[in-house]
Amino acid sequence: MEERLREMAKQARAALEGAANLDELERVRARFLGRSGLLREIQQGIREIAEELRPQVGRLINETRQELESVLERRREKLESLGVHERGEESRIDVTLPGRSQYVAGRHPLLATLDDMLEIFLGLGYTIAEGPEVETYYYGFEALNYPPDHPAMDEQMTFYIEDDVLLRSQTSTVQIRVMESQEPPVRVVVPGRCFRRDTMDATHSHTFYQLEGLCVDEGITFADLKGTLLAFGRGMFGEETQVRFRPDFFPFTEPSAEFAVTCFACAGEGCRICKGTGWMELGGAGMVDPNVLAGVGYDTERYTGFAFGVGVERFAMNRYGIPDMRLLYSGDMRLLRQF
Ligand code: DAH
Repeated sequence: MEERLREMAKQARAALEGAANLDELERVRARFLGRSGLLREIQQGIREIAEELRPQVGRLINETRQELESVLERRREKLESLGVHERGEESRIDVTLPGRSQYVAGRHPLLATLDDMLEIFLGLGYTIAEGPEVETYYYGFEALNYPPDHPAMDEQMTFYIEDDVLLRSQTSTVQIRVMESQEPPVRVVVPGRCFRRDTMDATHSHTFYQLEGLCVDEGITFADLKGTLLAFGRGMFGEETQVRFRPDFFPFTEPSAEFAVTCFACAGEGCRICKGTGWMELGGAGMVDPNVLAGVGYDTERYTGFAFGVGVERFAMNRYGIPDMRLLYSGDMRLLRQF
């Protein structure tokens, strides 16, 4: 019997120490030390041996159980301290499942477009200025030379917080704030969010972005405006790009113009993107009205300037082939992951 016990203990020790993972260890434990395991079986055979030998054999069985249990514990600790793969438990991990991918943040197409625009003006020596989105009527309209109740305000219909406090409908408001805070020469571009009472559809939004530009110095002429916007158009769309100016009206510029560049998609041939015209209208521009310059205390005999404002959404939509403006504000990752 002692012989059997020793033989069993030897096998058990080897099996416990050789268990490659916790599952296997548990199986070995059950086989040797479990309630109906081999050790139990041997223990039950004690009834068949001579009475006087029983205490001695009983002790031996207990010692063997204790020893094997400590081997078991040691092996269990060892296996638990190993990594999943070393424990040989790969079977619990389905390596054929797709991994969880890490998201890499990207630039939103709208802000990427704005950044590229700013880059060009920074190259031309402009600095970036910003101003508040909530404005007073004075900065929103009055200082921009809008007479009270002038129809030019119709296209700037915005949201009012109080009679005199509104959400800016154009970044032109920041022209005034910049000029109030410094003397010429002024060369700034102003990126920013604007608001109008427009119903959302594929080409309109109550919230949208503009990029404003302002240059005031001695001897600034309309030729400088044209050259600057030509450089801008070429920077954005390539060296072949041409600019077109047509008369327009804005209270804060005189003369005023609407400007367009040759369609980048068809180089002026006429296509679906430019609706067959060959041109893409980008925004408004003009020579700063002397009333505006005088309003901020500039010497209108000495200084002249030009200003322009372009919408960013249409640019981004044309450039990336985005058919509906609402997609730009949807936060939909299916759209954003494409850029
Ligand atoms: N702020 C005008 C608009 O939103 C665009 C504009 C026109 C800006 C002429 C200018 C400008 O600076 O000189 O319709």
